[in-house]
Amino acid sequence: MTKQGKDKSQKTKSDGAPQVPAGIHIGISDEDRAAIAKGLSALLADTYTLYLTTHNFHWNVTGPMFNTLHTMFMAQYTELWNAVDPVAERIRALGHHAPGSYAQFGKLTSLPDAPAQPPKALEMVRILVQGHEAVARTARQLFPRADKAGDEPTADLLTQRLAVHEQTAWMLRSLLEE
Ligand SMILES: [Fe+2]
Repeated sequence: MTKQGKDKSQKTKSDGAPQVPAGIHIGISDEDRAAIAKGLSALLADTYTLYLTTHNFHWNVTGPMFNTLHTMFMAQYTELWNAVDPVAERIRALGHHAPGSYAQFGKLTSLPDAPAQPPKALEMVRILVQGHEAVARTARQLFPRADKAGDEPTADLLTQRLAVHEQTAWMLRSLLEE
């Protein structure tokens, strides 16, 4: 509102066309948008880090389970690679910049970096179970804020990511059972 109490959205340009009001007016407060974008940045960093570790394991897996794991890891890293884009673009739609460097991801992620020396096949599976569980915790932590702010697209995105990470963790966990 201006001093005169006029709504900025009522203004028109000199050519008579309606002027688009400055800022983002989607019914979510600036504070909520910032908090949700921050949570999504953590989810993006986690997802990217898990993507890279999974691709690393696709390259470096050895042993009698090679074919199964090499193929399974490919399906998983492809899913993760496709998942980073909607998370990043939701951050943009909320009016914030998406992190996209190794330095930023390293600071934001809750996951450890992939080991420099490739572990044995079942240890890789164990690391990936922990990774999917960690990403699920990051997504779940953000859910109440998105829900309370009435941010349905983020809540929907988080719900989809939670389903994938929990299902993948279960499938990987099953490989570790006798
Ligand atoms: Fe490959």
